[in-house]
Amino acid sequence: MITRIVKVDQDNPSSEAIKEGVTVLQDGGLVIFPTETVYGIGCNALSAESALRIFSVKKRPADNPLIVHISNMEMLHRIARNVPEIVERRWEEFWPGPLTIIFEASSIVPPEVTGGLSTVAVRMPSNILARSIIEQSGLPVAAPSANISTRPSITSSDYAIQEFNGSVDLIYDAGKCSLGLESTVIDIRGQKPLLLRAGSMNVEDISSIFGEVLVDDIARGIKYSERPVSPGTKYKHYSPVKPLALIQDKSLFKKIMTEYGNDGRFLFIGLDEMLNGGGKNKIFLGDSKNLKDAARNLFSSFREIDSSECTAAIIHEFPEEKEGLAIMNRVRKASSAVIRTQSDFNSFLESL
Ligand code: TXA
Ligand code: MG
Repeated sequence: MITRIVKVDQDNPSSEAIKEGVTVLQDGGLVIFPTETVYGIGCNALSAESALRIFSVKKRPADNPLIVHISNMEMLHRIARNVPEIVERRWEEFWPGPLTIIFEASSIVPPEVTGGLSTVAVRMPSNILARSIIEQSGLPVAAPSANISTRPSITSSDYAIQEFNGSVDLIYDAGKCSLGLESTVIDIRGQKPLLLRAGSMNVEDISSIFGEVLVDDIARGIKYSERPVSPGTKYKHYSPVKPLALIQDKSLFKKIMTEYGNDGRFLFIGLDEMLNGGGKNKIFLGDSKNLKDAARNLFSSFREIDSSECTAAIIHEFPEEKEGLAIMNRVRKASSAVIRTQSDFNSFLESL
C-alpha cells in the first residue's frame, strides 16, 4: 500500500495536516502519530476490523490489548463503566498526560481491542497533534506503541518511516517525542493502586494523587509473569537485534570500559558521568542529576546499537527512583544478559 507521509509541527499542527489523520481514522485506516511518550499506531477503537490490522502490521500477539486514547471525559464515559470517583474528581491533575488507567470496558469496545479482557486501558495524551486528531474525528483511538513487536519503541519519525512505510495509511513526520518513554499503566480498582508498567509518570507523583502505589517485580521488569494482570508483561520487549549486556555493578562497568573502551566490538551506553574517561564508541544518555534526558534518549540508543558497527552494547544500571524506575524496566527487558561479576562478563564474551 502507499503510505502518505505528512510533515507537521507537532506543537502547532496545521488544520490540513490534522484533517488528513481525521479522514484516515474515520475511514477505518491506520495512522502513525507522535504522542508525548512514544509514537503510536492508531485506529478507530470501536472498529474490530481496524484493530485487527494493527495487530497484523505490528506482528503483535492477539492477547496483548491496546491502549485507547481519548481527548475528553465524555469519551471516557462512552468506553468505560464504573469510573472510580477519584478519577472524576482529580483527572485534571494527571490528564492530559502519560498515565494509563485500567477501567471496566463498556460493551461498545470490541474484544479485539481489549485482548478479550473485561477491562480497557485508557489515556488522554497531551501531545497537541494527537489530541487534535482524536477530538476532531470524534473517535476514541486505539494505539499501541508504533514498533514491530519485541523491537524498541519509536521516539522519532525517521524510525517510524523506516519500519512502517508501505504498511499503514499515514505517518506523521513530526520529529522527536518530548518524553521518550511510554506511559505508566496503573490499575486502581483494588484497595491500593497497582503499578502494571513503570513509565513516564513517576510513581512518586501518582502516589500523591491515588495513595501509595504497589510496585512488584513484574512492574520493575525483574520477573516475567506467565499469567499476568497486564498481558504485555509476559512478552519479550524493546530489544535491539544485537546483544545488550546490563552491568549491575558500577565499578565493574568502569573496569570493563577501561579495558574494552578502545575495542571496536563494544558500544557503551550510559549517563554522562559514567562514560567519562577513555574509549570511543559511546552513547551519552544525559546528566545523572536529572534522568529525564536519559529517559528521552534511551530507545533511540537501543536502535543505534543495531545501526552501529559494534558487535554488542554494554549499559550500566540506574537508580530505581523517579524516571529511573521506568528506565531500569526497559533496560532489563531489552538486555540479553545481566552481568554482576567478572566471570558473568567472561561468559558473555564467550557467547559473542
Ligand atoms: O505511552 C504509551 O502508553 C504508548 C503511546 C502510543 O500512548 N502506547 C503504548 O502501548 O505503549 P503498548 O500497546 O505498547 O502498551 C500497552 C500496555 C501493554 O503492556 C498492555 O499489556 C497493557 O498496556 N494493557 C493494555 N490494556 C490493558 C488492560 N485492559 N489490562 C491490563 N493491561 C493492559
Ligand atoms: Mg509497546
